[in-house]
Amino acid sequence: MASARVSTLLVFFFVIVSSIASFSSATEKEHVLTLDHSNFTEVVSKHKFIVVEFYAPWCGHCKNLAPEYEKAASVLSSHDPPVALAKVDANAEENKPLAEQFEIQGFPTIKILKNGGELVQDYKGPREADGIVEYLKKQVGPASFEIKTAEDAGSLIDEKKVFVVGIFPTLSGEEFENFTTLADKLRSDYDFGHTTKAELLPRGESSVTTPTVRLLKPFDELVVDFQKFDVDALEKFIVDSSIPLVTLFDQSPANQPFLVKYFESPNAKVYIMFTYFDVGL
Ligand SMILES: *[C@@H]1O[C@H](CO)[C@@H](O)[C@H](O)[C@H]1NC(C)=O
Ligand SMILES: *[C@@H]1O[C@H](CO)[C@@H](O)[C@H](O)[C@H]1NC(C)=O
Repeated sequence: MASARVSTLLVFFFVIVSSIASFSSATEKEHVLTLDHSNFTEVVSKHKFIVVEFYAPWCGHCKNLAPEYEKAASVLSSHDPPVALAKVDANAEENKPLAEQFEIQGFPTIKILKNGGELVQDYKGPREADGIVEYLKKQVGPASFEIKTAEDAGSLIDEKKVFVVGIFPTLSGEEFENFTTLADKLRSDYDFGHTTKAELLPRGESSVTTPTVRLLKPFDELVVDFQKFDVDALEKFIVDSSIPLVTLFDQSPANQPFLVKYFESPNAKVYIMFTYFDVGL
């Protein structure tokens, strides 16, 4: 009787101790990887998809981001495919060459590194946990979605944004591969889709027989087709064709991506800007 009670107590005690242990290890385990000059390349090279925050210890925005970033890392640690979140103290003297390599201008700067660091992209998503998770799930998923039905076309194509769609007789071959590669590279700037049925698209010629990239724009001539599949030529086509000839220079968020392209574009020929000052007279 007495020994049964002792062993029950022991079991009870053990359960409490082990749950405290697992609780404290859960709170102590950081999901965000800390990287520095000594292991950055090695760790990055092992990841198909890793997000790196370059921060400075004194930066207020970085401090605000830290708990959100950690929460996102914890949610994403069980995501399939894996999404790793890391940070580098870019202010530390020994890490400055890294900050230079990635052209870090301000803090925090977040980069997405793919294929072991071969492809580097800017993180352009939100700064709170749920938003970070949603944005990164989208980034790690397919860059281009197949349009199989009119409903797919309706839900994927946002009439207010540039949409790039590859039209292919079959969804394979070098043209399709090149299109997919580029979609992955430019995915944070444009929305991509692909289809074997041009007739499902809202605009443009519907009898397409050779691989074609069609850019649907919310401005100017609204639709442009392109049939070269060299990756660089295709990228140039997409970037050049998506610059509007005239952009309203205002605070409208819908115009911001076009304005950015404008200022970045080395060959934008026409700059027309209107600025309204509300002087409150
Ligand atoms: C990288 O090295 C630093 C300093 O030696 C260490 O604190 C950190 O935990 C290492 N990170 C990883 C992911 O191994
Ligand atoms: C695919 O892209 C590569 C690299 O830009 C290029 O050499 C190749 O010719 C392209 N393929 C086609 C079918 O255009």
